[in-house]
Amino acid sequence: MLKHVYLDNAATTPMAPEVIDTITKTMQDTFGNASTPNYFGRQARGILDQARLIIAQSIKAQPSEIIFTSGGSEGDNNAIISTALAQQHLGKHIISTSIEHEAVLKPLKYLESLGFEVTYLPVDKQGQINLDDFKNSLRSDTILVSVMMVNNEVGAINPLKKIGQLLQHHQAIFHTDAVQGYGSQSIDVNDLQVDLLTTSAHKINGPKMLGFLYERQGLKIPPLIRGGDQETKRRAGTENIPAIAGFAEAVKLNDAKSKLANNKRLLQYKQLLISQLAQQNVDFEINGPDISQAVPNILNLWIKGIPTSILQIKLDLAGFVISGGSACTAGSLEPSHVLQAMFGAQTPRINESIRISFNKFNQKDDILNFVQALTQIVRN
Ligand SMILES: Cc1ncc(COP(=O)(O)O)c(C=O)c1O
Repeated sequence: MLKHVYLDNAATTPMAPEVIDTITKTMQDTFGNASTPNYFGRQARGILDQARLIIAQSIKAQPSEIIFTSGGSEGDNNAIISTALAQQHLGKHIISTSIEHEAVLKPLKYLESLGFEVTYLPVDKQGQINLDDFKNSLRSDTILVSVMMVNNEVGAINPLKKIGQLLQHHQAIFHTDAVQGYGSQSIDVNDLQVDLLTTSAHKINGPKMLGFLYERQGLKIPPLIRGGDQETKRRAGTENIPAIAGFAEAVKLNDAKSKLANNKRLLQYKQLLISQLAQQNVDFEINGPDISQAVPNILNLWIKGIPTSILQIKLDLAGFVISGGSACTAGSLEPSHVLQAMFGAQTPRINESIRISFNKFNQKDDILNFVQALTQIVRN
């Protein structure tokens, strides 16, 4: 049977074996409810507290600033909807970007339907926002700024630190969707001056349906999920202790040193892929910033003259899994809103592009074999 090579790690990553071991062991040993003050509950609470500490340290936050959620979508919804509703007495204007994930765009659309006004910052052909546009959009009634750390389709990195500095003396609450940045970027929430930050475990070799929302001390945005008093009354629902223990394990495996090593290796893969494609005379262009300006694990390519759907099917048949865009838009015939924001709707580029995304489990041979397969498809 054909063994598929997985190059769609921006959609999701395989769980690390150590994470699976931790989850399995915790499932077997610790079934207690972390909110109950009995022997089993205390065991679960111990694991929860330890995981919260490890995770808080990974972004230089306090453990009390970490709220476990069901993943990136919930974190984004909570940060955006709850903040806007709580702050509307100060204004109804929000700033975001035109290339956010749907988990940010849909809550913003919902808020627009309630009478909020959203400015979507445009991006240039590299997928970058312009800080002057941001400055010009900022108003006295702006209550929320939501700018993603790393774009999931083209890997562009946003200037969060500069935005944080510009917001230092402004009332607006600063949220970032760091779902695609958490695995590769070194994050210090105080240095970035963000108030809210969303992550997701399944993008860093952890389990699915789990993430956390960082909420700066004292912010007190209302919960999105109401019910029990879990997560210090900020997110109701019995915590999934085995999955949370697995998430903490994934974070430990991806510490600062590992991030550096992985980034270095994946950047080499990216450079290799591009140079090999050029050597094979494949007619392509990179969608996104220069490779030194983007995250090392995401590469979006315009393969000139070949529709995305054909590339996807032929590569799949050859044993290579890539994406036609973000996971949520893949499968639909809608061209990517990110590529449209970068290049307009009138270029064939938006229907002839693929996203290749790497993970630490990929090997050099995966890249070389992928180039060979893609070259063959293009020649045929
Ligand atoms: C940038 C970004 N934000 C949010 C999400 C949603 O995260 P989750 O799948 O954990 O809900 C994703 C997932 O693809 C993403 O890439």
